[in-house]
Amino acid sequence: GLPEAVTIWEVGPRDGLQNESAIVPVEAKAEFVERLVAAGLPVVEATSFVHPKWVPQLADAAELVQRLGPDGRRHPVLVPNERGLQRAIDLGCEHVAIFGSATDTFAQRNLNSSVEEQFAMFEPTVTRARSEGMDVRAYVSMCFGDPWEGDVPVEQVVAVGTRLLDLGASQLSLGDTIGVGTAGHVTALLDAFNAAGVPDDVLAVHFHDTYGQALANAGAALRHGVRTFDSSAGGLGGCPYAESATGNLATEDLVWMLHGLGVGTGVDLEALVATSVWMAEVLGRPSPSRVVAALAG
Ligand code: HMG
Ligand code: MG
Repeated sequence: GLPEAVTIWEVGPRDGLQNESAIVPVEAKAEFVERLVAAGLPVVEATSFVHPKWVPQLADAAELVQRLGPDGRRHPVLVPNERGLQRAIDLGCEHVAIFGSATDTFAQRNLNSSVEEQFAMFEPTVTRARSEGMDVRAYVSMCFGDPWEGDVPVEQVVAVGTRLLDLGASQLSLGDTIGVGTAGHVTALLDAFNAAGVPDDVLAVHFHDTYGQALANAGAALRHGVRTFDSSAGGLGGCPYAESATGNLATEDLVWMLHGLGVGTGVDLEALVATSVWMAEVLGRPSPSRVVAALAG
């Protein structure tokens, strides 16, 4: 049967804002994170300590974490390498995420590494983070298809994903970076991880909604046994280094489905919608979320 509750891992301030052409002022980013926390989101991924030239939208990462005060330290932040980790450690961050790729083309474009080279970058990063007592999440991108390489075999994703976990990550988030996956593929990938000894409770799913499949895919993962779902408020997001990546699954759409199924999230949908309406004004474009459109009225 379905669980009583699941965890929503909110990525709007990071995955959402990293792909907006508008540079959002740091004050508005801090307000966004605080409003998401106040709306009941249990995890709010705040920003990335990546090279500021690669993602100028998040160049203010340090300022944002400082502005959020002591509470800001518990929000996960992305770090690609030891340099990024050091920046996070200097600010007292307690939770970091590394982000690997299942394909060589995307590893090259996103990390300036091959699939093999990314492990040489992550290995000392995770070891150091763990020795500092930090929790580490790992992402794997291009799990369902790659804009340059096409289909990505399930075995290739499992091979990269299990290696990322073996480095010492506590959770693996499976990214459909360009939103091409469908529900049967989700089930097949989860089955393959389970067969490789990785149970659903170590996994999270991270769907982008390019082909309108994100919510159906989340439903398939829920019924399979996954209990952590990545989404972004208002459906913001994408990835600047992946062609044809659009927004993440909207948190509002996910919450509507989950609450309708009687699965708790702790999220106050009204407060969340108000937050997304406000952020849409900051960005100067309407939210792509259907639930936001329906409830904002
Ligand atoms: P590189 O140019 O190969 O870096 O970039 P490098 O190691 O050769 O260093 C070059 C210079 O950058 C050096 O400075 C370093 O100190 C500096 P110099 O000595 O020349 O003065 N540097 C840094 N500065 C600040 N922070 C750092 C850092 N690292 C090096 N962390 C690198 C390699 C990994 C840094 C680069 O490729 C990068 O920053 N990539 C990040 C791209 C990114 O953020 N993409 C979006 C996130 S992934 C995503 O969205 C997918 C996800 O949502 C899941 C899904 O949907 O599938 C997670
Ligand atoms: Mg993403």
